[in-house]
Amino acid sequence: MSHADPPQVAGLRLRWHEFRHPDPGAFRPQEPHPAAPGDAGASGTTATDDRSFGLWVLEDPDVLLDLITPEEYEANDERMPYFGAVWPSAESLVAKLLAGPRLDGVELLDLGCGLGPCGFAAAARGARVTFMDWEPRALEIVERSVLAQGRRLADFDLVVADWRKPPRMGPFDLVIGADVLYEERNAPAVAAFLGGHVKPGGEAWIGDPGRPHAIRFPALAQQHGLAFKGSERLPAMKHAIEIALQRYARE
Ligand SMILES: C[S@@+](CC[C@H](N)C(=O)[O-])C[C@H]1O[C@@H](n2cnc3c(N)ncnc32)[C@H](O)[C@@H]1O
Repeated sequence: MSHADPPQVAGLRLRWHEFRHPDPGAFRPQEPHPAAPGDAGASGTTATDDRSFGLWVLEDPDVLLDLITPEEYEANDERMPYFGAVWPSAESLVAKLLAGPRLDGVELLDLGCGLGPCGFAAAARGARVTFMDWEPRALEIVERSVLAQGRRLADFDLVVADWRKPPRMGPFDLVIGADVLYEERNAPAVAAFLGGHVKPGGEAWIGDPGRPHAIRFPALAQQHGLAFKGSERLPAMKHAIEIALQRYARE
């Protein structure tokens, strides 16, 4: 599969999108990722450095809204198809991760991963990544991206699950959630999930564009054993929306 020959997943047309560390001085070409198969080049892999990556995104994310029927919406717990876009929180978190230190040995969960941009940024920096979302199409697209990057599926965990009823998994050194507090019901559920899935000494990072439910999140997280360590402003990226990165530590 080359990037000039995009796949379709569940009838959704995809296109290849690349993220790159914005400072070319920090760009450090490397050998292909050790996990890449020998013929990775033939698949058009871009896993040639540790500060950039590519992934499949939807050619037209709005098509998902056209596809959803009121019956499906009700049958699927009023689930909106938000997985189909790379959200501004993810853009800013990706930039932070690509600019940050190596994450070798870090067990990381991308919670509500959507198309997986944050998890792939962490993987580029060496983390062992689990992607989790309740939307099966999201994980199907993530899987295609892993393969198109020339990486091995065995090096990732892809989990389709609801964070309110998670399967046995983790705990993790770092859980990242980009824009997961967008509905009122999400905040208590995400706090409870983090309480059960961050290792002692580990951290959770929540990237948020200023949604009202994020304001009470520190108190909710505290109830589940996570101490609020502060909020960092992440620079706005393509969408010109400044992001607050809330950091929590499990003691
Ligand atoms: C606003 S999108 C953010 C996607 C991605 N993190 C990003 O920033 O590009 C929220 C994501 O959370 C997922 N999600 C919402 N509720 C969920 C739940 N109860 N369990 C698991 N995933 C959920 C959605 O499917 C969606 O992919």
